Amino acid sequence: MQQVEVQSLQRFHPDYFLQRFTSESLSFQPGQFVMVKPSGLFDPFLPRAYSILRVRRESNRKGGHMVEIFYKLMGKGSRALSRLKPGDRVDLLGPLGNGYHVPPSLTTALLVAGGIGVPPVVALAEMLARSQFTLRGSQQGKTNRRSSDKGRRKVVAFVGGKTSDDVLCLTDLRKARAKVHVATEDGSVGHRGLVVDLLEAHLKTQTSRQGLIIYACGPHAMLHAVAQIADRFQIPCQVSLEASMACGFGACMGCVIPVKQSVKEQLAARQSTISYKLCCKDGPAFDAREIAW
Ligand SMILES: Cc1cc2nc3c(=O)[nH]c(=O)nc-3n(C[C@H](O)[C@H](O)[C@H](O)COP(=O)(O)OP(=O)(O)OC[C@H]3O[C@@H](n4cnc5c(N)ncnc54)[C@H](O)[C@@H]3O)c2cc1C
Ligand code: FES
Repeated sequence: MQQVEVQSLQRFHPDYFLQRFTSESLSFQPGQFVMVKPSGLFDPFLPRAYSILRVRRESNRKGGHMVEIFYKLMGKGSRALSRLKPGDRVDLLGPLGNGYHVPPSLTTALLVAGGIGVPPVVALAEMLARSQFTLRGSQQGKTNRRSSDKGRRKVVAFVGGKTSDDVLCLTDLRKARAKVHVATEDGSVGHRGLVVDLLEAHLKTQTSRQGLIIYACGPHAMLHAVAQIADRFQIPCQVSLEASMACGFGACMGCVIPVKQSVKEQLAARQSTISYKLCCKDGPAFDAREIAW
């Protein structure tokens, strides 16, 4: 746990906040999260989980970094964070969990985000945009180091929300060279309907599915629908799940996620086909086929 300072707080539409904390250098995988709470606060007592949106090097502090989170006002925890001023102190634990896995064979990332599920997806788009060489170089060895991946890895993002106010971070995604498609339930911007409609329509136009991976984060029902589409089109899919978290690192057992048992486990147990994993420690990013939806 480190104590960090609020560097800035920016409000987007009444419900959404971008908050920056000064921090030591912190390297993270997109999809990983931090547990955050104002220092010295006892109500709420427990910290809250937030995906890391990005970590930036701070220009005016030698060696300093800024951790950014983007959140929606939900209850006591997020309200307490949103009332902090620059210089106020925060307890921050992380990065925690397992983020999205990016294999060297990835050629096109299809990102699907619903509402406030957007931060890990933006983090992934930004990572894919700026670190392709590093990623592929370290994973594939020197032979492919010279081949330019810029343009080889395509990023297509499908972003949905209830209304135009809930469609978030489009500029960030476009800056990360993602082609962005938008859906809103009320039709106030983009396609009127669900973001999964856009994903399905897009997949129908694809002649080859090789090298495609779907990465999603959002409401559970959306993730389930994305997993079903991925299954139908036979495309690998990783989902970032949410669960109520008290500790964030596997100690409280409060964040169990039902998963399908392997054949070996089923044979050993001779009955249930459901097993459990911890969202904080085994996830929050999971292979969608693993989840017992
Ligand atoms: C790994 C992980 C990453 C997360 N990343 C982000 C993020 O980047 N940005 C962000 O805004 N949130 C994120 N969340 C969700 C966030 O942790 C919760 O919204 C947070 O606990 C809210 O705390 P609170 O005290 O403000 O609200 P609470 O008092 O905990 O909740 C207020 C009300 O909202 C309901 N509620 C809480 N969370 C949710 C939810 N996710 N969906 C629907 N209803 C809910 C509660 O049941 C309650 O009725 C993440 C959660 C996890 C597990
Ligand atoms: S939050 Fe405590 S075990 Fe996952």
